[in-house]
Amino acid sequence: MPSTQRQLYDVRGLDDPAKYDQLTELEPDMWWDRNGPHGGLHLVNDLRVPYFERAIDGYAGKRILDVGCGGGIFAEALASAGAHVTGIDASPRSIESARRHAAAQGLGIEYEVAEAETFEAPDRFDSVFAVDVLEHVANINLTLDTCARLLKAGGIFGFLTHNQTRQAFDALVWEGEYQKHIIAKGTHDFHKFITPDDLDERLRARGLGVVELQGLWFDMDSGVFEFVADTTVTYLGYAVAVADADADADSSGHEPGLLTS
Ligand SMILES: C[S@@+](CC[C@H](N)C(=O)[O-])C[C@H]1O[C@@H](n2cnc3c(N)ncnc32)[C@H](O)[C@@H]1O
Repeated sequence: MPSTQRQLYDVRGLDDPAKYDQLTELEPDMWWDRNGPHGGLHLVNDLRVPYFERAIDGYAGKRILDVGCGGGIFAEALASAGAHVTGIDASPRSIESARRHAAAQGLGIEYEVAEAETFEAPDRFDSVFAVDVLEHVANINLTLDTCARLLKAGGIFGFLTHNQTRQAFDALVWEGEYQKHIIAKGTHDFHKFITPDDLDERLRARGLGVVELQGLWFDMDSGVFEFVADTTVTYLGYAVAVADADADADSSGHEPGLLTS
């Protein structure tokens, strides 16, 4: 996938939603360009969509909130599989692009410009997802508050993010942004990367018990993502909303307890 001819995109110095607004202003259809700086999100979709489908026992008929949905790469896959999807993002141009693309596909996704930290909805969701988002939001605690508050009891919270390790910095920032230019320069703020233990603790504090964690590895030379046991760089997983964060199991049958692959 990567090529030495790649165009250089640079969003250093911008706040997070503004980075995505600027990229989308530059190229309104960038979210759907598999060879552009969001190309990795298309590649990882091939793994994360079936992974979470298994976690929530199928998308069809479920009410799902996609927090930080960007141009709708994940949201569209879920809607195509029969979910009723609401996608929110703090970048207005990304939401415009998502609406345009969904309309062209005939998909009825509810998109809204909103901050993850403050979003309110009248009803709770069967599942809430924050995929490739927790390392971007301004306030992770308020974002996780929103995710927990809007999730039904027994509902699943799915996440995908980057570990706060030297290896993650090397892979995503140094190699991805500065060496191979497959991600726009300035996309990631290392201080927002989060270790699995830290995330687990914050989720528990909100009544979300982690059921499973799985590492992901991206080979930038071949452009191939694969599941790995090692969560040192990127990981995904899901947690279940339990009434008592220390409970052993909940009515969904999922067993909270930080299992790694
Ligand atoms: C790496 S992109 C991921 C997009 C999408 N989840 C996907 O995986 O295809 C991160 C997204 O988070 C959004 N974002 C950043 N801060 C946010 C916030 N505070 N509230 C809502 N969205 C935010 C950005 O605008 C951007 O669209």
